[in-house]
Amino acid sequence: MNIDELKSVASAIVTGQKGILAADESGPTIKKRFDAIKLECSEESRRRYREILFTTEGVEPYLGGVILYDETLRQSGADGTPFAELLARRGILPGIKVDSGAKLLALHAGEKITEGLDGLRERLQEYQQLGAKFAKWRGVIEISEQGIPTLSAIQANAHALARYAALCQEAGIVPIVEPEVLMDGSHDIVRCEAVTSQVLEIVFAELDNQRVVFEGMLLKPNMVIAGMKCPQQAGVQQVAEATMRCLERHVPPAVSGIVFLSGGQSAQDATAHLNAMNLLGAHPWPVSFSYGRALQAPVLTTWKGQEQNVAEAQKTFLRRCRLNGLAHLGQYDS
Ligand code: 13P
Repeated sequence: MNIDELKSVASAIVTGQKGILAADESGPTIKKRFDAIKLECSEESRRRYREILFTTEGVEPYLGGVILYDETLRQSGADGTPFAELLARRGILPGIKVDSGAKLLALHAGEKITEGLDGLRERLQEYQQLGAKFAKWRGVIEISEQGIPTLSAIQANAHALARYAALCQEAGIVPIVEPEVLMDGSHDIVRCEAVTSQVLEIVFAELDNQRVVFEGMLLKPNMVIAGMKCPQQAGVQQVAEATMRCLERHVPPAVSGIVFLSGGQSAQDATAHLNAMNLLGAHPWPVSFSYGRALQAPVLTTWKGQEQNVAEAQKTFLRRCRLNGLAHLGQYDS
């Protein structure tokens, strides 16, 4: 393992105003997104959509990386240039989602475990040859009233994340470690902070056990935020303060960067929260974004699957990238 190289890739992704576009929706997830705009989900419509994102002019200062799905990493732009190469030429690092999704955890009703460790060493070698510089694995933690999450579910997910991260570093690929505490549900922000704290503590203990080098990884956490069905929604400042307090207590300063998921927040909220966190002052790590829905939802509704809307959709995408780039610096003004 070349630690200096891992560290330099991890830092390059979040340098300056940069963050990540998460465009790694699995087949069923992208179908859901296309269903919402009444677009048929085919290999070609998925390719075309990703091409619209990846060829948008002017996003280079704001995107350090793009997370791809297996199918997308093997697809190319209209001129035959593989997407990974097309992005790399623009100085945007290609990454790859390597987990195979969250499945029901046996004997734990209502909880999930992310699978995909079998054969991962071999898959990582192939992904590296296809140009991937970093990877992503998402563990899912749900909060609900009946004693969920359980300690055993958190431990199982943390262990899988750590095994994945170790395999990535062995292969010279920067792991993005994503333990997502879901914002579905009616819990308040206090409960979210308590669960997120517990999850991060266990995740970093497992990462350490598996000898993962913190400098050569990025953390992709949820923000500390009230559940969507909670009657008391927290304000922007409260979310920013609770999230930074939680991360500063539980994330080692050696980690190369924090790249938040948006998790179902509106595009505007995700940008405002990121900005408020960066306005709180200097943090031990760069605090940036790795948004899926918060970058793409406005693009999809503008595009609607129609060629005549491509220019407008790309304008929308550039704008969201630029605003999140400003939020990374604490310079976004709604
Ligand atoms: P969202 O920003 O839509 O939560 O997606 C980020 C992601 O990569 C989830 O795994």
